[in-house]
Amino acid sequence: MKTFATLLLLLAGAASATEIKLPDETAAYKQSPLPGYQLVLNNCLLCHSAHYAQMQPPSSPRSYWEATVKKMKKPFGAQFSDDDIPAMVDYLSKVYGAEKPKP
Ligand code: HEC
Repeated sequence: MKTFATLLLLLAGAASATEIKLPDETAAYKQSPLPGYQLVLNNCLLCHSAHYAQMQPPSSPRSYWEATVKKMKKPFGAQFSDDDIPAMVDYLSKVYGAEKPKP
């Protein structure tokens, strides 16, 4: 009887080990009081999740983010206003790029 209980525990353990859990932040942009955060939520989730932003090297400078955001408009065809670009670049540089505060 005791062996049976142990076996059940082992099976339960094995079952949960095969479950693939992705961290929540894989898909969502990191929350921030910066004004660019809301703009990114409005403008950057139409075609893909925040995954691509998270995959960029943390050393990415502001110029890289600016080029990337502009690339989403042209050639990729995003529809946001040019007026939104500086605040979004600011957010991306500070939250995902080289201007991220060091811990
Ligand atoms: C019109 C659709 C569209 C919108 C809107 C869009 N993207 Fe993209 N994004 C793409 C495509 C297409 C790719 C390239 C995917 C690939 O290479 O497989 C991409 C790739 C990326 C990458 C990966 C790096 C690279 O240079 O390819 C990042 C980072 C990124 N997007 C960030 C953003 C941000 C930030 C926004 C909002 C400002 C945004 N995207 C809005 C279509 C879009």
